[in-house]
Amino acid sequence: MLKLKYINKKYILKTNKQIILKNRPVGLPGKDTWDLVENKIPEPKEGEILIECEYISLDPAMRGWLNDTKSYIPPVQIDDVMRAGGVGKVIASKHATFKVGDFVYGQTGVQQYVLTDGKGYHQVNPNLAPLPTYTSSLGMPGMTAYFGILEVGKLKEGDAVLVSGAAGAVGSVVGQIAKIKNCKVIGIAGSEDKCNYLLNELGFDGAINYKSEDIKDQLKAYFPKGIDVYFDNVGGEILDLALGRLALHARIVICGAISQYNNTEAVVGPSNYLSLLVNRASMTGMVVFDYAKDYGKASMQMGQWMKEGKLKSKEDIYEGIENFYDTFLRLFSGEKLGKLVLKVSEH
Ligand SMILES: NC(=O)c1ccc[n+]([C@@H]2O[C@H](COP(=O)([O-])OP(=O)(O)OC[C@H]3O[C@@H](n4cnc5c(N)ncnc54)[C@H](OP(=O)(O)O)[C@@H]3O)[C@@H](O)[C@H]2O)c1
Repeated sequence: MLKLKYINKKYILKTNKQIILKNRPVGLPGKDTWDLVENKIPEPKEGEILIECEYISLDPAMRGWLNDTKSYIPPVQIDDVMRAGGVGKVIASKHATFKVGDFVYGQTGVQQYVLTDGKGYHQVNPNLAPLPTYTSSLGMPGMTAYFGILEVGKLKEGDAVLVSGAAGAVGSVVGQIAKIKNCKVIGIAGSEDKCNYLLNELGFDGAINYKSEDIKDQLKAYFPKGIDVYFDNVGGEILDLALGRLALHARIVICGAISQYNNTEAVVGPSNYLSLLVNRASMTGMVVFDYAKDYGKASMQMGQWMKEGKLKSKEDIYEGIENFYDTFLRLFSGEKLGKLVLKVSEH
């Protein structure tokens, strides 16, 4: 049992609700993929901290971490707490750097409390931005957008830019950065409301509803001289259509392929790839963690743009760890706007 010396009395009476991986899904995760369990709240030993998790980041990558295949990170193991980024408050500490009351971000997992030695965690300041923003534009998706469009996409002023998954966490920031850099930006999203959001709230120059419009015709109309940068979040047919509309020396950023993550059969590659040859174009994969040493610099720039009103951060927050399963599926149904976040603390 935790000692009063370390922890406020109200926490002693609580348990730690955790989401545990039970079965590896085939296709879309089902109800039997995870289990909600309750365990005792652990006590920190020397060099450790106890964090009360407040907001958990729900990301498409979590689907990939359920597969027992080789990737850029090992899969989550059966009976382990589901891996996820999260932001919370240090409520007990025997650590030299992190103090009680600090707010921190790290790989907390989907649970209400996490015990850690602090590796991979960093402090965040709730006075500079609301806590959920640190899972969003000032967190991993924001860093992905920043390095993806600027470094991998080699964005130049005046480029004609196409971004898919445009109303999501990464895509909405990609489009806004491209606008800041005086580019023409067209977004692809899955509803009229999302398209209106891109046009009216984020200042995109055009938006294509991939569920109701002819994407090929729209690309032809929006890109008479071709696409200079395509930031791909979805893969599949949309990637193929973008390949068919490239400008000379175009850059395609392969950030993700959400349309393929729940496939029950093998991923089908793009057929229009010879467009890369004809247009002397490139298609480059990226993993955001490769840029970790420069996150600080990027966060300062993003924070500055937010302060100047040039960059908006939108979080769609749902409540209750019990609702993890249904909330997670919103990533694939598209029933959310901006960054999907789950509040797991009960206050
Ligand atoms: N490489 C990296 O380091 C890195 C880092 C972060 C994220 N990513 C990738 O970046 C992509 C975007 O991530 P995010 O966090 O910004 O997610 P997100 O866009 O906030 O959420 C996913 C969105 O994808 C759209 N979508 C779902 N199924 C689709 C389909 N079949 N076809 C087209 N669109 C579909 C949905 O919006 P609609 O309503 O528009 O369909 C949904 O809201 C993902 O592929 C993710 O894996 C990569």
